[in-house]
Amino acid sequence: MNDERFFDLGESEVDAECDNKLRPKRLEDYIGQEDLKASLKVFMKAATLRGEALDHILLYGPPGLGKTTLANIIANELGVNLRQTSGPVIESAADMAAILTNIGRNDVLFIDEIHRLSRPCEEILYGAMEDFAIDMVLGKGPSARTMKLKLEPFTLVGATTRAGNLSSPLRDRFGITYRLEMYNLDEIAKIIRRSANILGVKIAEDALPELARRSRGTPRIANRLIKRIRDFAQIEGKAEITKALTLNACDALKIDPLGLDSTDILILETLIDKFNGGPVGLDTLAGATNEAAITIEDVIEPYLLRLGYLVKTPRGRMATQLAYMHLKRPLPDRNDIL
Ligand SMILES: Nc1ncnc2c1ncn2[C@@H]1O[C@H](COP(=O)(O)OP(=O)(O)OP(=O)(O)O)[C@@H](O)[C@H]1O
Ligand SMILES: [Mg+2]
Repeated sequence: MNDERFFDLGESEVDAECDNKLRPKRLEDYIGQEDLKASLKVFMKAATLRGEALDHILLYGPPGLGKTTLANIIANELGVNLRQTSGPVIESAADMAAILTNIGRNDVLFIDEIHRLSRPCEEILYGAMEDFAIDMVLGKGPSARTMKLKLEPFTLVGATTRAGNLSSPLRDRFGITYRLEMYNLDEIAKIIRRSANILGVKIAEDALPELARRSRGTPRIANRLIKRIRDFAQIEGKAEITKALTLNACDALKIDPLGLDSTDILILETLIDKFNGGPVGLDTLAGATNEAAITIEDVIEPYLLRLGYLVKTPRGRMATQLAYMHLKRPLPDRNDIL
């Protein structure tokens, strides 16, 4: 099995099928993100008491941390319908208008990858979000006139891995913005325990931290890991996933003890071996490793930063002493390596 594929953070078809089973439906089953949950509860309760639509919410953060899951939960908890679409799918302003005019009172419209909406679609959203109305242009040329079309009040939940790519007029129209954080080891362990329960697999307590450490703080990867290890247990005829079985399986799958994959290692090696630890600008690093700058920034870097293997400075990315030690390189002869 290819380890790069394993740690690919995007949602695959296999994931999508299983995700549905493992996806928590209620806020009480949504593990971690405690601050977010606490405030969200208040906002949802207040909106419900007033009989109004919840304010528009922007969710951002790296892939696989639970944005889609949260959008579903919000609609569930509010007891309203969820209409789900995504930025690149909405082709024209007319499509956007059709979606908006079909939304029921106080329903949730979830737009995934909202940073990829086309400009005309975005402009229609402005009025829809602010006044629950859209301006339609009827006719062409000098006789064209605009007509205001009233919409039902609704809640837009937008998700993006790139909040920075959102135009500021769009960003400003969200009343609530949440940044999803990577999960700590305890939270990931809880997620693994919950998923194992749902999948009907028994897992030993001392195997949990091993799996958690390899999950990159990301529930999607945690769920993928447990499914793969379950296969190993089944083949070996074991009723329970033990620590020993976990370690063997991870070795066989070439999963690094910290969940690092070959791309992470390449980034660190490049920083250390080619650039003497940095600082290196993002584009230079991208060129030297043949990775897209966006991928480095959105997908690879967050976990390396989280581990403390990489730091961002005004002059670029730098490897830390921890990274040198992980790669078993002697520390460089300079005193600005953190
Ligand atoms: N807080 C959580 N508690 C339990 N399970 C979670 C949690 N967050 C995510 N998951 C699990 O992780 C899987 C991936 O989450 P989700 O699809 O919501 O991520 P996402 O942020 O939308 O990713 P992407 O950016 O790729 O769309 C879900 O199927 C769900 O089972
Ligand atoms: Mg998603």
